[in-house]
Amino acid sequence: MRASVTVRVAGSTSNLGAGFDCIGVAVGRWLRVTARAAPDAAGRTIAIERGGTLRSLDTAPEADLLYRGFVAACRRAGQEVPAGLALAADSDIPVARGLGSSAAATVAGAAAAAALLELKLDRAGLAELGSDLEGHPDNVAPAVFGGANLVLRGPDGLVVTPLPMHPSLALVFAVPDFTVETKRARAALPATLPHADAVRAAAKSAALVHGLAHADARLLAAGLDDVLHVPFRRSLVPGYDEVTRAARQAGAYGATLSGSGPTIVAVVVADGVGAVGDAMVRTWGARDIAARTFHAARPAGGYETD
Ligand code: HSE
Repeated sequence: MRASVTVRVAGSTSNLGAGFDCIGVAVGRWLRVTARAAPDAAGRTIAIERGGTLRSLDTAPEADLLYRGFVAACRRAGQEVPAGLALAADSDIPVARGLGSSAAATVAGAAAAAALLELKLDRAGLAELGSDLEGHPDNVAPAVFGGANLVLRGPDGLVVTPLPMHPSLALVFAVPDFTVETKRARAALPATLPHADAVRAAAKSAALVHGLAHADARLLAAGLDDVLHVPFRRSLVPGYDEVTRAARQAGAYGATLSGSGPTIVAVVVADGVGAVGDAMVRTWGARDIAARTFHAARPAGGYETD
């Protein structure tokens, strides 16, 4: 066992419209976790420090995704979870905003265990473990591998493949000051859809992949305009129609929910990030909803350990 390790894991935006549950892009917002042997935590199973406070997780440690990821990696390797251990976490990934904070925490916990205890857990294994635990492989895959990814379940497990994103493209995010829990956003989805909608959805997801690769305006507009989830979720995000329209009017190829929202992500040409971000924030502001913007000029990398 090493004395201390630090892991850095990126947040992610998933779906990007028609890539519902199968496309995710790592974005440069980071969760940093330091795992260390902590004699002062002896007697407790594990402790997490946030903002300098040591918090015992003895009461319900399973509720913490970092802890659950850590334990799952130990179990997979057939190792006991060591006692006397502290995890210190520090993050600038907005929580419950559709930016993959849960996936990042799960991956960080598992990657920290692997590094600290020198477990045999490669990236593919970590993606499987994280997806089983967290449930959203379209956020877990970018957290593990970085970049833009297509992810699906094949007969032999998770298939993750990198997707090209044209270098002229950037992603602009507007993050409002309210949250939407993924559970609630999933409960809004219908159990079935008409066959004709499924046909449109298939065409749109192909358009999204090709549009991202080639910065093709028509295909991006079609691919960012989803039929599988956004129509059922937009009522959870006040101002959704106005903010996405403002992004398009300011020059974006299109805009849609980031993951299950409420963050809205726009795909733009790189020199249009300022105008589109400002337009989205202003539009929410006109509805008395505070929002902040950031952008990703290129996808972030996969998790790193020191
Ligand atoms: N693809 C998932 C959803 C992501 O939209 O529900 C959840 O983070």
